[in-house]
Amino acid sequence: MRILVTGGAGFIGSNFIRHLLATEPSCRVVNLDKLTYAGNLENLADVERDPRYRFVKGSICDATLVDELLKEEFDALMNFAAESHVDRSIQDARAFVETNVLGTQVILEACRRHRIPRMVQVSTDEVYGSLGPSGRFTEESPLRPNSPYAASKAAADLLAAAYFRTYGLPVIVTRSSNNYGPHQFPEKVIPLFITNALVGEPLPLYGDGLYVRDWLHVQDHCEALALILKNGVSGEIYNIGGNCEWANIDVARFILRILGKPDALIAHVKDRLGHDRRYALDTSKLEQALGWSPRIPFETGLTKTVGWYRGHMTWWTRIKEGAYREYYQQTYGDLSHASQ
Ligand code: NAD
Ligand code: DAU
Repeated sequence: MRILVTGGAGFIGSNFIRHLLATEPSCRVVNLDKLTYAGNLENLADVERDPRYRFVKGSICDATLVDELLKEEFDALMNFAAESHVDRSIQDARAFVETNVLGTQVILEACRRHRIPRMVQVSTDEVYGSLGPSGRFTEESPLRPNSPYAASKAAADLLAAAYFRTYGLPVIVTRSSNNYGPHQFPEKVIPLFITNALVGEPLPLYGDGLYVRDWLHVQDHCEALALILKNGVSGEIYNIGGNCEWANIDVARFILRILGKPDALIAHVKDRLGHDRRYALDTSKLEQALGWSPRIPFETGLTKTVGWYRGHMTWWTRIKEGAYREYYQQTYGDLSHASQ
């Protein structure tokens, strides 16, 4: 099987490429990535010499490049490429529209022209918007995105549906809940809290900290994606969730407990604008259709993830001391004055 992965140098894409190479001996993988601030070839250092893997630097918005690449007969394209951080989309939405909407349209069009037999658009539960204390989103739930990031992903989902209906493009949309695990960029809450705790810095908790996310280990996500790639039905949407709801303040406390650090490191900071209160997914469709369910319990996965960050200080220190530093200071300011 020949697969073009877009955005494979990021968190989930790199975990997915590693998973494919480990589980599909005959696969060939090309990774097209623009290497934005979030793309990092170190994430794939262990497979870069594998003869089945090739990296191409470039943007999914570059229609000529994408068209040229797709002349090499692929069996499937998996699109992970995106601007993925909600807070950055609140600061400036432009790159989100460019990559997440226009870039996805470039890929859809190229897949159509080259008759790629399968495309998987990796989307998010955030397209459904926010939930109150009860209920879960199904694949039939209306799209009510709240952040510019979520709106751009919803637009891409709708374009994928339109390409299926209009041209019969064999595209599948997956909507995952919050991922965590190795190689996640430390702007996202779990690696941010772990890396801050490791160096004794405050953990910036938005608002009352009672916002709820449904956590899924990236390995479970990759297994679901591999199953969908092989056996999913074109035109369908599949929710992929961890069935594991935690309030942010409990995640912060758990990380501090693993590391033997005091709760006093939690710093309540100004809330995120338009902050979605709760996400939760009904994943019965995927369970019934393809027999998938998450396997890694959150406490086990989070403890291992803390261990990974503890063992990879060079990886994240380089990031935190690089261009990310300016974003961090602009976003959080001086945390030593935040209320505990
Ligand atoms: P990430 O930010 O870690 O990685 C994104 C990757 O895309 C980076 O390697 C970046 O260089 C690349 N990229 C960005 N713009 C590009 C462009 N124009 N052309 C080519 N490459 C480009 O993101 P992630 O957390 O790995 O998320 C991957 C996908 O999964 C995204 O589509 C995201 O919306 C979706 N998703 C993420 C989560 C999560 O919890 N992280 C949950 C559900 C869905
Ligand atoms: O639900 C899937 C989505 O999960 C993906 O589509 C996104 O790409 C991914 O970034 C993630 O979005 P969230 O906004 O849920 O993730 P984030 O890690 O930014 O925040 C998780 C929760 O933690 C959220 O309620 C906000 C809160 N938070 C976040 C940061 C960065 C804090 O309290 N403090 C922080 O500093």
